[in-house]
Amino acid sequence: MAAQDDVIIELDKVYKIFGPQPRGRALQLAKSGMRKNDVQAQTEHVVGMTNVSFQVNRGETFVIMGLSGSGKSTAIRTVNKLHDITDGHVWVDGVDVQALSGPPLQQFRREKMGMVFQHFALFPHRSVIDNTGYGLKVQGVDKTARDEASMRALNLVGLGSFAKSMPRELSGGMQQRVGLARALAADPDVLLMDEAFSALDPLIRRQMQDEMMAINAELKKTILFITHDLNEALRIGDKVCIMKDGAIVQIGTPEEILTRPATGYVAEFVQDVDQGRVIQVHEIMQEPQPVAAGTSLQEALQSLGDRAGAFVLGDDGKPKAVLTSADGIRAAGMGSTELQAGLREDFNSCTPQTTLNEIYSAAGRGLPIAVCDDDGRLVGNLDPRHIMEEMGRVENLIDDFEREVFM
Ligand SMILES: Nc1ncnc2c1ncn2[C@@H]1O[C@H](COP(=O)(O)OP(=O)(O)OP(=O)(O)O)[C@@H](O)[C@H]1O
Ligand SMILES: [Mg+2]
Repeated sequence: MAAQDDVIIELDKVYKIFGPQPRGRALQLAKSGMRKNDVQAQTEHVVGMTNVSFQVNRGETFVIMGLSGSGKSTAIRTVNKLHDITDGHVWVDGVDVQALSGPPLQQFRREKMGMVFQHFALFPHRSVIDNTGYGLKVQGVDKTARDEASMRALNLVGLGSFAKSMPRELSGGMQQRVGLARALAADPDVLLMDEAFSALDPLIRRQMQDEMMAINAELKKTILFITHDLNEALRIGDKVCIMKDGAIVQIGTPEEILTRPATGYVAEFVQDVDQGRVIQVHEIMQEPQPVAAGTSLQEALQSLGDRAGAFVLGDDGKPKAVLTSADGIRAAGMGSTELQAGLREDFNSCTPQTTLNEIYSAAGRGLPIAVCDDDGRLVGNLDPRHIMEEMGRVENLIDDFEREVFM
């Protein structure tokens, strides 16, 4: 157990009732343990949160996970008082958040918290660096200091060279990164992230998860992260809190959630994960980056970088052959300069929707796998090492699960 002074965010028996008389009968009924739907049927008030208590330690990534309407956004919004709560207490770094209002509340939000939302709105007519420094500008920080902090944040998220660009010149993923940079620029202790990556393509989304974890290994911010995706929760969370109908069902480390699901509800979620069924190829495949026509063997080898291999396409966009670094180096060692000498045609293919379980044994051959659309055109390059890594992570968790259950 962490010492008490390690706790930076605490919700203590928090209730949030939506409706004209939140503190009336609806609250009483919720406090008596009545479920959300029944309270609603009897009082026409909506239970946003009921008896929610959790503690987030300094430097921890705490993920709240649950289906739509389970109360995740309501929970995160109480932390910076975007919502008033109906009952209970919210503490952030020793401050009773509910007691704040006016300028002290503004100051608390600006200095303590950075927020990143699902659809991050950038100012279209301001450059990336000005968007990033906007919060600092509001705080009255002068331009030099602001630009310095913004550049630091943009470099962290890999967008340093886009500082002068306009938002319309950035992809959705890059815009979301600016959102993260804006939150980081003020160097807050706490990042509040509500479905921050949910609108991104699976591939970009995983990259963002990885990058966020890498950034935070350095910065050690406290992150309160909301998602409806259990895979994402297990991947990035030090602790995962599962909510249903405004109530907490379970709080634990990813391992605890997987190995000791508190209820059938959690177990049902977990089943999807522990069987590795849910992870589809498109979530871990890389850009196709095929070998350009007319490339020499040497050039093609160099273009591989640390990839397991790259495909050669026909005029129809379909993969015809693959160059792996092992094959290429062997052919070059025998004096070949022709790309053809390093190619092989006995590769495996799959679709973006193939699950890792289905492609697992093919990955055992160690060759890259061609990911093709319905017309057979190459849309992704799947590195067998990535499949193994991803499966291995899940396997470890299953092993723990089975040990727990059968021993
Ligand atoms: N301003 C509001 N007025 C009335 N009811 C609200 C309000 N905000 C949220 N609710 C209700 O509170 C409950 C929890 O909503 P909340 O937005 O916290 O869910 P969520 O878990 O974030 O869902 P999602 O994944 O869809 O974002 C829902 O039943 C919702 O209808
Ligand atoms: Mg929400």
